[in-house]
Amino acid sequence: MDAARAEFLLKYPEYERTGHIDALRASEYSRLDALGQIYLDYTGGSLYGESQVRQHIDLLNLHVFGNPHSANPTSAATTDLVERTRRHVLQYFNAPPGEYVAVFTGNASGALKHVGESYPFAEGARYLLTVDNHNSVNGIREFARARGAAVEYAPLTTPDLRIDIPRLQALLGNAGRGRHNLFAFPAQSNFSGVKHPLDLVERAHASGWDVLLDAAAFVPTNRLDLAVVQPEFVAISFYKMFGYPTGVGCLLVRSPVLSKLTRPWFAGGTVNFATVRGRAHVLAPREAAFEDGTLDYLSIPAVEIGLRHVESIGVDAIQTRVGCLTGWLLERLLGLRHGNGRPMVRIYGPADTTRRGGTIAMNLYDPQGSLLDYARVEELAGQQGISLRTGCFCNPGAGETAEGLTDEDIQVGLEAGTDITLTRFREMMRHRGGKSAGAIRVSLGLMSNFADVYRFVGFAAGLRDQTRLAMGDVTFDIGACRVLRDGS
Ligand SMILES: Cc1ncc(COP(=O)(O)O)c(C=O)c1O
Repeated sequence: MDAARAEFLLKYPEYERTGHIDALRASEYSRLDALGQIYLDYTGGSLYGESQVRQHIDLLNLHVFGNPHSANPTSAATTDLVERTRRHVLQYFNAPPGEYVAVFTGNASGALKHVGESYPFAEGARYLLTVDNHNSVNGIREFARARGAAVEYAPLTTPDLRIDIPRLQALLGNAGRGRHNLFAFPAQSNFSGVKHPLDLVERAHASGWDVLLDAAAFVPTNRLDLAVVQPEFVAISFYKMFGYPTGVGCLLVRSPVLSKLTRPWFAGGTVNFATVRGRAHVLAPREAAFEDGTLDYLSIPAVEIGLRHVESIGVDAIQTRVGCLTGWLLERLLGLRHGNGRPMVRIYGPADTTRRGGTIAMNLYDPQGSLLDYARVEELAGQQGISLRTGCFCNPGAGETAEGLTDEDIQVGLEAGTDITLTRFREMMRHRGGKSAGAIRVSLGLMSNFADVYRFVGFAAGLRDQTRLAMGDVTFDIGACRVLRDGS
């Protein structure tokens, strides 16, 4: 590994500037190496440092915190801490004073659901979203559809899986004048790692759209500056940024749009006044109208601790480090060849680090070009202590585009009715020309190091000339990205 590392440093000298992360990994994340874990699922969830947990436990052990929403001392102490955290979240994203409110939610999906429930979808309204989106953004289309709004998808280009900008521009041009138009896209794909251009926010504004930016996969390794980019809505899960706590996310809402949102119900904590006799309620203002019931008030202070932790490391250093490791990993994976010279790996999305993050989706192939069973690959990786993820990553659109699935392919799956699962669908696609339904995903994050990517490349290289993991006798020409029948 030493020679490979030296070569890596020669090509990526800026990696050396992130040495403080190696020191932190040794002091606060030593469990990774002590337990022989090669963690490559940062887009699934980031990892916490020991000091985050320690500080949080100390805070809990040294104070008495009651349920907020009351004036008693223990309640007030909690309220203070929750509000302090809220301010810190807004500061972290550099939100101009008064421009945004931060609504605490259970996770990014909870944040996205608020938008779906409360956005004024109606006949004549539009919901435009990119094909590359997490299911929690796709799911908003059900709210839109149910209330008569038009739903449209902006396609991706292949093989890079970037938004097809001319097509998107044309779709943005369809905004209804004087109607409510919502455009949703991810700042970074949780499938391909593509960073979609943030200037789309302004372009969409100029065409009359409100913008929902799903930043869940972006903010763990990139700076989001709300003084520069100002979508109406931003969804985030904090555990994806710093691992702990789980169960807290956030919806950032631009203050002027709050007035166009209508909550479909009210709950404890969301009202200034409610009467049973009068069958009426008056919602609380701003974020309070969206925070149903009791917040996870003991976990929320750990968000401030986590943000400070990331600030102390520096998100720019994390980005640099992840960029270097991703570049090396892509080069090495694309260079892997079977004994007969055929490529072993097909990467979905950009093959270099241009406008992409540290999430890499791929499939592996045998020497005849047959797709390897990714579930088996995951199992084998697990035996070597490697945590990666396989499947569709809740992003069916990017996967369908990457894997070249057609309307007919999807129809076949849908005809199976409620019995359909990804595993069954994968089997069906195997019989339809050996296509893949799903992929292998490795993702890097704040504590990734060279040894992690080196070990993964070693694992993948170990599958050279492997013939027993193929899914069937149909072959896939990786180079041409074309499905070939056996023997053709
Ligand atoms: C881009 C993106 N959006 C939304 C989500 C949903 O996050 P959560 O499961 O925390 O609600 C994820 C989770 O992987 C994601 O990657």
